[in-house]
Amino acid sequence: MITIHELRRKFIEFFKTKNHVEISGKSLIPENDPSVLFTTAGMHPLVPYLLGEAHPAGKRLVDYQKCIRTGDIEDVGDESHLTFFEMLGNWSLGDYFKEESIAFSWEFLVSPRWLALDPAKISVTVFAGDENAPQDEVSAQAWRRLGVPEDRIAYLPASDNWWATGPTGPCGPDTEIFYWTGRGLPPPGSNKGSDPKNWMEIWNNVFMEFNRVDGKTLLRLPAQNVDTGMGLERTVAMLQGRKSVYETEAFTPILRSLEKLSGKTYGVPGNDPELDRSFRIIADHVRTATFILGDPKAVLPSNVGAGYVLRRIIRRAVRHGRKLGIEGAFLSEPAGGIVENYAGPYPELMENRERILSELKREEEKFLETLQKGEHEFDKMLPNLLKNPQRVMSGRLAFKLYDTYGFPIELTEELAAENGLKVNRQEFDEAYKKHQELSRAGSEQMFKGGLADHSEVSTRYHTATHLLHKALRIVLGDHVAQKGSNINTERVRFDFSHPAPMTKEEIAKVEVIVNEQIRRDLPVTMEMMSLEEAKASGAIALFGEKYEAVVKVYSIGDFSKEVCGGPHVERTGSLGRFRIQKEQSSSAGVRRIYGILE
Ligand code: SER
Repeated sequence: MITIHELRRKFIEFFKTKNHVEISGKSLIPENDPSVLFTTAGMHPLVPYLLGEAHPAGKRLVDYQKCIRTGDIEDVGDESHLTFFEMLGNWSLGDYFKEESIAFSWEFLVSPRWLALDPAKISVTVFAGDENAPQDEVSAQAWRRLGVPEDRIAYLPASDNWWATGPTGPCGPDTEIFYWTGRGLPPPGSNKGSDPKNWMEIWNNVFMEFNRVDGKTLLRLPAQNVDTGMGLERTVAMLQGRKSVYETEAFTPILRSLEKLSGKTYGVPGNDPELDRSFRIIADHVRTATFILGDPKAVLPSNVGAGYVLRRIIRRAVRHGRKLGIEGAFLSEPAGGIVENYAGPYPELMENRERILSELKREEEKFLETLQKGEHEFDKMLPNLLKNPQRVMSGRLAFKLYDTYGFPIELTEELAAENGLKVNRQEFDEAYKKHQELSRAGSEQMFKGGLADHSEVSTRYHTATHLLHKALRIVLGDHVAQKGSNINTERVRFDFSHPAPMTKEEIAKVEVIVNEQIRRDLPVTMEMMSLEEAKASGAIALFGEKYEAVVKVYSIGDFSKEVCGGPHVERTGSLGRFRIQKEQSSSAGVRRIYGILE
């Protein structure tokens, strides 16, 4: 029976025999594409080449690419949705086109030397045509020539057979290949159009000859390209005759490890479906988190962007772990297994093993603490709640648990249900919405030496500001003095005295120094002292600023010491990754930096 590791290898080998060059897959964090948080498709890193740039490896390429799609995250837990998956792909950059691409796919699928699938169990779809492009007779003819019978070819509209990267970018008609998952052989006349439930997609060959600009106009690309994608896990599940991807070796070792930790068994008759669902959610999420943390461009859990997605999936996995009865931090156990299972195709996981395991543990522990506090508060509220004759907990109280202790509403609902209570969800949602609007407005306000709002994100930016200030002094010199700063939930703006624009090298150095301090996970401590003592101890104080007689001095490990009102994070490790987005002039002799935490 073919495994994920075998299919990956066979795919690459096959296309090498067809003169394709294997290129390595890219980071999960896309380069130069601010429109998405993660690499979402195998072709994503190839967009510049599909648009016409020459690829250094040539015109025929093959690879496997790690991808993350979080659009359907709420559906994860059923038997098919995944947040992380691998995509196998082959490309022609203005070399071969429809006919050859289709012939390659067919040979790989049915040849006894490769996958040896039964041709009678394969059907295809081709583009039916619209105002943008005609019915794709070239593809249909190519399939017929290979022996695909007429009743296995379905012509479908753009909603099925037109593939686009996004609202703009390379796109074109595609032909998709399906495998029969029903009993026996497919009856005459059955295809994806007439009998959609029994056919599962295994491969998508996109003929990219257009570029969509302004979200509507189609222009011809400089060349006719081919972009194909085969979802690895899904295809293997099908080839193994499995009911779901969770029964393949991409997931079975994870599930076994969760069984050991929980003392419960996955997928046995009589199981509560919710129990199996929790198993699947943890398995999917821990795999995704492992790959994010193991990526060479890893983000760490945070409250912004990709780091926030990571935080959410780790926390969701923890919650479902508790549903399985697992106490304490546990994700590093299955994560260690994932690292080993994937060490061959993804050596970066082994290289970053320590980071993966320790970051998981740290985030889990932090969240468990939040949960404990929230539960404790709930218990204190309970006697009063039970006095309510309607058995309803007000949304206002539930919101207080969320707002003050970070306690998730789903957990409040769970605790309430265990005590025969219902939460007024509508009232909670209203309070939540109002809170979000307020904090958005608040974050746009200026702050002068203080904070516009004391939310977690701002606190992080505040600590990052100290690191930035000190790093600038190290790189540019002691003449650097803070002239102003402004924080919102998306960035810090920092003004400082310096006579000339910073060079690229200087900017890079500052980033490296700041990130190094984050990586060191330095403790942030505070002491109160007189201003004189503070200055004598070497703390930076802002020139011209008015201070009280007794001031707070914040130290970040041995790296920085600054007079400041706070608040700050406890350790720098929680900051994520710091990046200077822009450096520009502010006024004569004053430069301005926009920095972000990712
Ligand atoms: N771009 C297509 C997909 O993602 C084929 O690679 O399905």
